[in-house]
Amino acid sequence: DWTPISFVEDTIEKMRKKLGKDHVVLGLSGGVDSTVTAVLLSEAIGDRLHCIFVNNGVLRKDEFENVLEQYKEMGLNIKGVDSSDRFLNALEGIADPEIKRKTIGRKFIEVFDDEASLITNVEWLAQGTIYPDVIESVSVNGGPSATIKSHHNVGGLPDFMKLQVVEPMKSLFKDEVRRVGKALGIDDELLGRHPFPGPGLAIRIIGEITKEKVRVLQEVDHIFIQGLKDHGLYDDVWQAGAMLLPVQSVGVMGDERTYENVVALRAVESTDGMTADWVHLPYEFLAEISNKIINRVKGVNRVVYDISSKPPATIEWE
Ligand code: XMP
Repeated sequence: DWTPISFVEDTIEKMRKKLGKDHVVLGLSGGVDSTVTAVLLSEAIGDRLHCIFVNNGVLRKDEFENVLEQYKEMGLNIKGVDSSDRFLNALEGIADPEIKRKTIGRKFIEVFDDEASLITNVEWLAQGTIYPDVIESVSVNGGPSATIKSHHNVGGLPDFMKLQVVEPMKSLFKDEVRRVGKALGIDDELLGRHPFPGPGLAIRIIGEITKEKVRVLQEVDHIFIQGLKDHGLYDDVWQAGAMLLPVQSVGVMGDERTYENVVALRAVESTDGMTADWVHLPYEFLAEISNKIINRVKGVNRVVYDISSKPPATIEWE
């Protein structure tokens, strides 16, 4: 019978046999799949697992620092690489969503390749692939591993892609991944994190991206997500976030007329991201969050709530 404990024990044994004394590199995204993969492999081969966590400049507020700290506390052999400027420079002037995605994917491969090549004797690339990724063949949700997969055909393979691939969670469904994570002692907070797209806030800033827009959206997103947590709503929502619209609207602040940005809040219920319904968040909650955002985030004077379901709308706006 399948139990999370038996899966953990069997996999650790299998991985020890398969990997021997070899070194393995893994890109962590902060998401559930890559985190559980890392802890599982780390139980099997210890510090011969080399984890890399890249700051692409479009993560949530303080996410790079907080998640890196959490990973370190979990005892993972991890290197945080802050490449924000490299990504933001590459994104400058780009408004097209698909070009944003490709640019981020390409930069990620460059950074990951640079870092992986610093590790001597590495022979394996671990990926947090899970069963739905295998059947869909294109993962919608997979951070680094999905990025790598969708860029297989870019041309000459980066060095790290010549490595052998190990995917210990390939047979698991999402709920099983969470149960395995729990059996491994991973924090509920980490296991319950909402999905977050690999291209991050870049596809929630509609149009061109600037450092200042990233800062504004990080603040807005933080108020919204923290509000959901404080009101006990976070776990009732499958995914939530905010979009920064390329629209200015007139407002009034004291005696002054303002002309500033509009943000859209989005919260959806879903099981797999393929279809989704907007969440009927309480009006009182929305009122409080809207006030907080407008009062605290300079540059935003209007908040709207997205009441579209998927299909025909998508979860992200880009
Ligand atoms: P859409 O917007 O297509 O999103 O309804 C469905 C789910 O996929 C996530 N998403 C992405 N994840 N890279 C990712 O890793 C991407 O380019 C990407 N685009 C959308 C989205 O956040 C939602 O969970």
